[in-house]
Amino acid sequence: VDNAFWQGKRLLITAGPTFEDLDPVRFLGNRSSGKMGFALAEQAAKFGAEVTLIAGPVNLATPDKVTRIDVRSAQQMFAAVQENYQQADVFISAAAVADFRMTESSEQKIKKQDGQEGLTLNLVKNPDIVAWVAEQADKPFVVGFAAETENVIDYALSKLQRKKLDMICANQVGENLGFESDVNQLTLITSTKQKALVDSLKRQQAQQLLQFLAEQL
Ligand code: C5P
Repeated sequence: VDNAFWQGKRLLITAGPTFEDLDPVRFLGNRSSGKMGFALAEQAAKFGAEVTLIAGPVNLATPDKVTRIDVRSAQQMFAAVQENYQQADVFISAAAVADFRMTESSEQKIKKQDGQEGLTLNLVKNPDIVAWVAEQADKPFVVGFAAETENVIDYALSKLQRKKLDMICANQVGENLGFESDVNQLTLITSTKQKALVDSLKRQQAQQLLQFLAEQL
């Protein structure tokens, strides 16, 4: 890997899930572990990049020399990204951001009523953080992820275009693959290139991803 390229480059990375609170004790979440985003932060910092890592609720140690900002909800993640994207050369959106949040999260614990057989939650769309960054006039180079269980490359290509990303990492998720796992299947995609990574460990993929990224910048 050409580590020299990353020396002094400023990288903003989001990682992990977001949790959307229903009430003080319950939330909507997802299975993202944050491992891919943390692996990228760790490798980039090793290569000399200045890394800011915006992390949703995850159980991972902060990599050496990485500045970490902890958030919980998509709205908090969005605010942290808005505050930091202008200082970045590259933004990598590896977080699994919740698509929806509660229209109103309840201040008190939601109680079930006697005989109640169902519950309807009113949800509202969360901001699309990576698409927002990609729209800004002073945007960094923007990299997204597309975790899919089927038609991975097709869906990733349409996301690349719809969200106006510079690059997307297509991620096959399934049993023991992708979410919650050290093992991953990744294809890196730009408007002109596609590269399927041979390695399946997130750590090694992080190195290859940074190498590929360096070649695009
Ligand atoms: O549309 P989808 O959620 O599959 O897109 C995935 C990509 O978009 C990821 O890079 C994810 O971090 C980003 N995203 C985001 N804000 C959202 C939803 C997804 O930044 N609200």
